[in-house]
Amino acid sequence: MRTVYLNGEYLPENEAKVSIFDRGFLMADGVYEVTSVLDGKLLEFDGHLKRLERSLSELDMDKPEGFDDLLEIHRELVKRNDVDQGGVYLQITRGAADRDFVFPKDAKPTLVLFTQSKPLLDTPAAQNGISVIFADDIRWGRRDIKTVQLLYPSMCKMMAKAAGADDAWLVEDGFITEGSSNNAYIVKGNKIITRGLSSDILHGITRASLLKYAAEAQMEIEERNFTPDEARDADEAFISSASTFVMPVVKVDGVEIGEGKPGAVSKRLREIYIDESRKRAI
Ligand code: PDD
Repeated sequence: MRTVYLNGEYLPENEAKVSIFDRGFLMADGVYEVTSVLDGKLLEFDGHLKRLERSLSELDMDKPEGFDDLLEIHRELVKRNDVDQGGVYLQITRGAADRDFVFPKDAKPTLVLFTQSKPLLDTPAAQNGISVIFADDIRWGRRDIKTVQLLYPSMCKMMAKAAGADDAWLVEDGFITEGSSNNAYIVKGNKIITRGLSSDILHGITRASLLKYAAEAQMEIEERNFTPDEARDADEAFISSASTFVMPVVKVDGVEIGEGKPGAVSKRLREIYIDESRKRAI
């Protein structure tokens, strides 16, 4: 059985209990982060912590007790659960209060962390690539805040599954915003193209590092909107996220990309990303 963390305590997972009045449960009034673990070490911890602080401040949510110990808590959970590959999930909600749309004045924020062990490196998806469909982006307008409102992304994964695909790329006003739980990229003539940052997408921590490493490797990057037609017609496509690193996309909306196999640029970026993050893991 896993050991999880809840509001200052390490507990067996079946003993960790949160109130039915918690606003995370009643109103999706919460934010989260997923930090990957490789070789028992945390990847991109500082990036995730910074984004978490920003999410809290954008929603006027207090930091929970224990916030300053988050690195130690992550490490302790990885150790206690003997995680070699996988991730640490962290969630903060505004806490428990009688149901009201107005933010409560004195609720204590809830802090929950748990680990998930799973292979991240030589998975079939990483070797063969994944397929994506298109879905309308009907999410709210503050996708830069990492909230736990994940019903639509969850529905998108189900739509993809029903269509025999792995995931969905979201489309708004004729342009792709991002994947249902990842950032989206195409490659055309060696140029890496991905949407620029705004409140339309989550500012991926993986994306930021990846673009930095790609620039250092003299690869050409264009941050701009791109269309579903450009994606269908791309030489390569891929996604990035904490849990997938860089994952090749070999089919978009039923159309094979390139030769229907992971392309050279995606493979190289995956290698660079994994090497560089491993070096910086803490
Ligand atoms: N998802 N865009 C969306 C909508 C996401 O949910 C995520 C992350 C990303 C990539 O961000 P990062 O590189 O910081 O992981 C982009 C996480 C992994 C999840 O919900 O499981």
